[in-house]
Amino acid sequence: MSLLRCENVTKRFGGLVAVDDVTFEIKHGEIMAIVGPNGAGKTTMFNLINGVFPADEGKIWFEDMDVTDFPAYKRAHLGMGRTFQIPRPFSSATVQENIAIGAMFGASGSETSTDMAMEMADHYIDLIGLKEHRDKPAGGLTPIEKKLVEIARALAMKPKLLLMDEAMAGMNPKDIDEMVVFIKHIRDTEGIAIVAMVEHIMRAVAGLAERVIVMHQGALLVDEPTQKALTDPRVIEVYLGKPPEDEHA
Ligand SMILES: Nc1ncnc2c1ncn2[C@@H]1O[C@H](COP(=O)(O)OP(=O)(O)OP(=O)(O)O)[C@@H](O)[C@H]1O
Ligand SMILES: [Mg+2]
Repeated sequence: MSLLRCENVTKRFGGLVAVDDVTFEIKHGEIMAIVGPNGAGKTTMFNLINGVFPADEGKIWFEDMDVTDFPAYKRAHLGMGRTFQIPRPFSSATVQENIAIGAMFGASGSETSTDMAMEMADHYIDLIGLKEHRDKPAGGLTPIEKKLVEIARALAMKPKLLLMDEAMAGMNPKDIDEMVVFIKHIRDTEGIAIVAMVEHIMRAVAGLAERVIVMHQGALLVDEPTQKALTDPRVIEVYLGKPPEDEHA
């Protein structure tokens, strides 16, 4: 059984087809990357998966459930977590409190007491390595630390699938390498599937993902194991605007 299945999903904005008849699956515990040039439809695809807006056509299945008409909060409760491109922690709340908020609103949220949520937060603070910042206001953290808190907050919701929007935007190569190791560690220890949008950072895609989906003009161009996808002539053409054999022409 797949964890998530998108079946012929289409989304239009007026006359523009932002996502065009896209079908793919995500398996339990796998790490997949969605890439593609600007305007390809990646963010729209993300928003369709987690229910920010409904699909115009097609179906979305999560485990065995048809979630096509479910709003975002219902999908979150079923185990779809996400991180945002620009983390916006509650600045005056502590790191621990910010993460505990995730635990309170997560899959088991309704049965989670404040004490339990704080305890769960500590587990994820250990995981992200920010123990010494536990009781500090989140507003004072560096951008990369905020990103880690954002990941911990999402993990505290106990997702089966974690959608990471531009997980590594603006990071230097050293931070990217560390983040790649960290994301793989999360998958291994938490046993969840991860879909990462890692725009234009092929170093991260190659190091992180087992499978890559390439989108182009709303359509799914390629769905292949990473090495195959990154050397696929169609993908190179989309990124360079010409076939590879024309490179010296
Ligand atoms: N809310 C919206 N209203 C109208 N058009 C939109 C909306 N969101 C996206 N679009 C359009 O849909 C297309 C796909 O956009 P989307 O943001 O999904 O692409 P993307 O692959 O995430 O691009 P980028 O790499 O620039 O983030 C674009 O042409 C965009 O202008
Ligand atoms: Mg985008």
